[in-house]
Amino acid sequence: MKTARPALLVPPALLVLLVLLAATIASTLATTLPARAQEAPAPAPASPATPAAPEAGSPEALAAEARSLAGSLMLSLQGELVAAMKEGGPTKALDVCRTRAPEIALATSHGTPWKVGRTALRVRNPKNAPDAWETKTLEAFRKRVAKGEEPARVESWEVVDTGGQRTFRYMKAIGTGAPCLGCHGTDLEPAVASKLKELYPDDRATGFRKGDLRGAFTLSRPL
Ligand code: HEC
Repeated sequence: MKTARPALLVPPALLVLLVLLAATIASTLATTLPARAQEAPAPAPASPATPAAPEAGSPEALAAEARSLAGSLMLSLQGELVAAMKEGGPTKALDVCRTRAPEIALATSHGTPWKVGRTALRVRNPKNAPDAWETKTLEAFRKRVAKGEEPARVESWEVVDTGGQRTFRYMKAIGTGAPCLGCHGTDLEPAVASKLKELYPDDRATGFRKGDLRGAFTLSRPL
């Protein structure tokens, strides 16, 4: 992330936006970092010892790896988004989402056996469209979020077998926060709306409200 410029150089409206963005990121991180395995029981408060690390290669260990990669992808994306909003407002940020998101996803998985991406039931970029396993998982996530679960804590994983190849698949929900509404909400600024229409004629990723499931990080690796 770039260092903050003196506040006086930033127009007040943008400043308010940045403060909101920073607050949302802080609260997202607070709920994201301690995310626990799906359906895992809460840790026994009386236990004095640190819980044993999951056995290497176990589904829990693989899920921990995936969770950590998803976390760093989220951090880098949000860092660049904030910097871009500061530098050039939503239009510049739009370019970050468009060109940098896939690059950051690649960089995050570089040197690891993981494939990392983002998907959703309603996508902006058709390249992010979910496959059958992702669709099923996103449907389950949507129900869990609708029942009141915090999106940052909703995750799921499974070992799937496709034609003899075993693959570990992991997904982590992404909620819709206030800073997302400018580009994914119900009331887009005309300039943003027209730029989006030009870049994504098949855009289905608008009309979200705060707290809705926006999509998910999706990670996989062959076993
Ligand atoms: C400045 C505009 C902008 C903002 C703000 C923004 N997005 Fe996006 N978002 C985009 C664009 C553009 C894409 C398409 C990226 C691509 O081409 O892969 C996108 C794609 C996505 C995708 C991938 C699935 C899809 O629809 O193609 C997810 C998930 C996503 N955004 C979540 C979020 C979340 C969560 C926030 C708030 C933290 C957010 N976005 C804020 C513009 C934005």
